[in-house]
Amino acid sequence: MKTLLLKVNPEKPDLTKIQSAAEIIQKGGIVAFPTETVYGVGADALNQAAVLALFEAKKRPLDNPPIVHVANPKEVYRLVEEVPAKAQILMEKFWPGPLTIIFKRSNLVPKETVAGLETIAIRMPKHKVAFELIKLSRCPIAAPSANLAGKPSPTTAQHVYEDLNGRIDAIIDGGATNIGVESTVVDLSVDPPMLLRPGGTPFEALKNILCDMKLHVFVEAEQELTLQDIRSPGMKHKHYAPKAEVILIEGNVPGVIAKVKDLSESFKHKGQKVGILATDETQTAYKADVIKSLGSRSNLASVAQNLFRLLREVDAENVDVIIAEGVSSDGLGLAVMNRLRKASGYHIIKAE
Ligand code: TXA
Ligand code: MG
Repeated sequence: MKTLLLKVNPEKPDLTKIQSAAEIIQKGGIVAFPTETVYGVGADALNQAAVLALFEAKKRPLDNPPIVHVANPKEVYRLVEEVPAKAQILMEKFWPGPLTIIFKRSNLVPKETVAGLETIAIRMPKHKVAFELIKLSRCPIAAPSANLAGKPSPTTAQHVYEDLNGRIDAIIDGGATNIGVESTVVDLSVDPPMLLRPGGTPFEALKNILCDMKLHVFVEAEQELTLQDIRSPGMKHKHYAPKAEVILIEGNVPGVIAKVKDLSESFKHKGQKVGILATDETQTAYKADVIKSLGSRSNLASVAQNLFRLLREVDAENVDVIIAEGVSSDGLGLAVMNRLRKASGYHIIKAE
């Protein structure tokens, strides 16, 4: 399959290009597009064959449903059985934006789209390109992140191209995404509401609005969860894994620096090529084959923005091991730490 590349200005997208992408969606095709979080790869959420082709294109396990994207909160009502009052509050406060809400689904939704579950994940993205594409397609768009299953999520069209060129119909290139980690997923099909995946909307902001919001144990898990704890299909699949082994060092900053130095020396002695994911405050402390800064520890939004791109960049240098520094779990740091822990396969070392 030849993948069409459509380059647009993310602020003022050329609507004739978006229209041609929308026609692909309407015919049951698959299009990757930017959102404010990461790139998504989408198909008509109400077309079973298109959704199955979408799973196939990204080699996604069939038991892990995508998020359904809408351009208008009114669209939600036909896709769900009920909109609980608390969900209504979150939609008013946080949509459009990086928040996905789990509802009980309606019978209109094909079982392929929800991987056989009784619930559905819906979000309204805040990105002109995503918005226009959904609107012009005149259907809700099922769109997981536009990476091959298991790889770091794409924050540029180039990342999408690396993973999916030849596997999908088109890629809309609208430049780098702004937030850099995926949306926060909250389950409102249960009460009290439960945060299942930390992301672009901070837990603190949600808790300010719904004070009974709980964090699922998985969000801050430091080891693989057992099956009975799993509430979201995505929790049991391998994620964000570069080719290289990833080791995450957590703890106070001087302790982290000492441990990273130690480890990188010992890998170097064994003749291994070492990459370090450091921070602005610590990067000059190290000597290694590849050193990249995730950003400043005092600006966790920038760390989130850089995270997936840097995981890909360090990996592209063919290092044997990536040693990553942990950061604080405040604000967007909760999503950053969740992704780093998963990327390391829970190979976590606590610095003294
Ligand atoms: O920012 C984002 O959320 C991006 C952009 C493209 O919108 N999308 C994204 O989709 O990250 P995906 O498919 O990579 O992640 C969706 C997550 C998975 O962890 C999946 O298991 C979970 O949402 N999910 C989907 N439907 C669910 C449901 N009914 N109940 C619980 N979790 C669900
Ligand atoms: Mg994903």
